[in-house]
Amino acid sequence: MVTSGTTFTVEQVRAAVGAGSLAPSIHNTQPWRWRFRDETLELSADLTRAVPVIDPDHRQLLVSCGAALLNSWLSLRAAGLDVEVGEFPDGPDLTTGRLATLTIIGHRPPTEDEIRLAEAITSRHTDRRPFTPATLPADEVRKLRHAAEAEGCWLAVLTSEDARVELSVLLARADWIQHNDPEYQAELASWVRDDPQAADGIPRTTALSSAEPRTEEFQTRDFTGGTGGEPASAEEAAERARTEPVERPGVLVLGTDADGPTDRLRAGRALARVLLTATVERLATSPLGQALDIEASRSLVHSLTGGTGLTQMIIRVGYPDMSAAPLTPTRRRPVSDVLEHLTDA
Ligand SMILES: Cc1cc2nc3c(=O)[nH]c(=O)nc-3n(C[C@H](O)[C@H](O)[C@H](O)COP(=O)(O)O)c2cc1C
Repeated sequence: MVTSGTTFTVEQVRAAVGAGSLAPSIHNTQPWRWRFRDETLELSADLTRAVPVIDPDHRQLLVSCGAALLNSWLSLRAAGLDVEVGEFPDGPDLTTGRLATLTIIGHRPPTEDEIRLAEAITSRHTDRRPFTPATLPADEVRKLRHAAEAEGCWLAVLTSEDARVELSVLLARADWIQHNDPEYQAELASWVRDDPQAADGIPRTTALSSAEPRTEEFQTRDFTGGTGGEPASAEEAAERARTEPVERPGVLVLGTDADGPTDRLRAGRALARVLLTATVERLATSPLGQALDIEASRSLVHSLTGGTGLTQMIIRVGYPDMSAAPLTPTRRRPVSDVLEHLTDA
């Protein structure tokens, strides 16, 4: 079915919005709204879903929306549509204007890469579980770097032992600060869901597994506020360190040259492209975001990369344990909740 005067079909629009919704977002807030009018799919921020304590200037909200934009664009490209992306068509104020538009300008066959990335949208999940001890080969790093660069961003790999030690300290310190911040804890708790059918937020089971004692180089975010898991005793920790294989993940820092709204939206597009590229390569990923919530440690993380510009995301990458049970996907809101003004012609 074709809507009047356009080559977008209703199904393509719904599929694109659904693909957008499968993007990663801070605390699975899904802070986006879509509208279809004048043959254009328009993306806006849903500020009722903002998380002002962890993200006072909406940086992470914009990164999340940028990731949704890339997924939706890929879905349209995989359908053979040529689509023009408009960024902040009403100016850079995300509280009043649209973040982006996707306007069809014709038909163009998708590239093989676009097809592969679009197919990976449904199988990409944040995997916070321990990875195998295998290290990330240089060839994979190169592919992930190209993915970030394709969206106008850069990707640095933390390889030196000094940089990795400093990052692990910054992550642990950020966790400690947030653990002792009642406002942060209240906001986080409001996004942890007891109902496994809840369409947004972090499921309680995922939150609890984030707190399980484990041997890890980089501390993942604790979604339970320290209430989820029993801390390991000294003997237990020593036994784990002796017997468990310890992962050696790749640590990637994704950044932009500037830090305006357009850069942050672009960082989201790059994040989605990097994560989907990793999925295609059968790599597992999880953001290590807590060190970036705190502005002071964000600039310290940046100094570890030795480059210019601003850090937008830290990504842990490695090989998943193939003997582990498949991940239960985190749920999403239905398309009808996030899409306005779509009528069958
Ligand atoms: C901007 C941003 C920041 C995030 N920060 C973290 C983080 O610090 N720790 C973490 O484990 N996951 C983080 N995530 C991942 C989200 O929690 C995850 O995308 C969401 O729960 C949906 O799950 P899914 O990625 O498996 O679909 C972040 C995602 C985004 C987009």
